[in-house]
Formats: sequence, structure tokens, C-alpha cells
Amino acid sequence: MAEAGLPASTAQKLRVVRLGHPVLRKVAEPVPEEWFDTGRLNNLATDLLHTMMVEEGVGLAAPQVAEPLRLFAYWLPGSEDEPEVEPRVIVNPEIRPVGEETEEGWEGCLSIPGLRGLVPRYVRIKVKGRAVDGSPVSLTADGFHARVIQHEYDHLDGIVYLDRMTAMRSLMFEPEWERYVLAPAEAEQEESPDA
Ligand code: NI
Repeated sequence: MAEAGLPASTAQKLRVVRLGHPVLRKVAEPVPEEWFDTGRLNNLATDLLHTMMVEEGVGLAAPQVAEPLRLFAYWLPGSEDEPEVEPRVIVNPEIRPVGEETEEGWEGCLSIPGLRGLVPRYVRIKVKGRAVDGSPVSLTADGFHARVIQHEYDHLDGIVYLDRMTAMRSLMFEPEWERYVLAPAEAEQEESPDA
């Protein structure tokens, strides 16, 4: 039943499934050709973007909302050394590394709430895919941008970042990560004895 008073295009916040839900371990299916530029795909993409923003994530893949399809949303808020990327959805993506260089960086996941870990990823990748309207998407990403895309792409193959960690010792809870990794100098000051 339609919700009274709400236009059909109103974004819904979808439930994000957590590790243990079988959909997170499935290889997702490509979005069928006939879905491009339809309300069905548009609505899913809009809901994915909306849910990502409400949950304060930088990325969200369709399997994380229990839709075993090959698309994901992401955005980059931008920082001193990273360009801003407006929230966008990439459908049926293909990625390949540019060069062999990898680097470790911190990741978390809305389906594994409360944890952070160091994950090695390719520094630079090429991405090809489709937009929701079917138009081709082609881009080169590096650094955090490349990391986010590799993380989301993995979800389409039933892989989570824990599977990619080479040093499980780095796994930590978010408050501890904020305290000892993000602001270690401040944490040390806090802990220095009073007398
Ligand atoms: Ni994730």
C-alpha cells in the first residue's frame, strides 16, 4: 500500500544488514539491462544514497541493504589531500588496479559496526560501470577514493574488509581508534599523571 501524502520518489531509509546475514557473503547479480532508467533502479539508488547519508557512511553497497545486485553508492566529503566527490551510484562496476602499488589504510563498515582495521588496497584503480540512467561511467581513482571503491566493490563479491586484513592485530573499537590512532598526542596528554 502506498503511503498517503508521500510522492513515489521519496527516499526510504533501508535497513542495513550486519555481518552474519547470508546476503553479505553472496556474489551479487548484475543489474539487468532493462532496469536502467526505470523507477525500480532509480528508487533503489535513491534509497541507497539516502541510507548511506543517514547512517553517516562514505559508501554503501546494495547487498548491505539485502539487495544482491551489483551497484553501490559512495561519496567523499573532501579534505586537504582528497578531492570532494558528490554522492553517486555506480552500477555493474568493473575495477582494475593501475600499477601494483598498495598501501594500508583504516576502514570501517556499516555492516560491521563499531570496529576499525588496517586494510591494504591498491593505491590507484580504473573503474568502469554505468550510471542509473545507463550512461557509461569511467574514472581513475587514487588514495582514499580508490580505497572506498575497492571496499564497496568487494561487497558485490561477498567480501568484507576483515577478509582483506593482513594484520588482525590492528582491529580495534571505534572509540579506542579515535583516542589512540586519530588523536594519540591528545590521548597521551590526558593520560599523563597529575602528580
Ligand atoms: Ni562495508
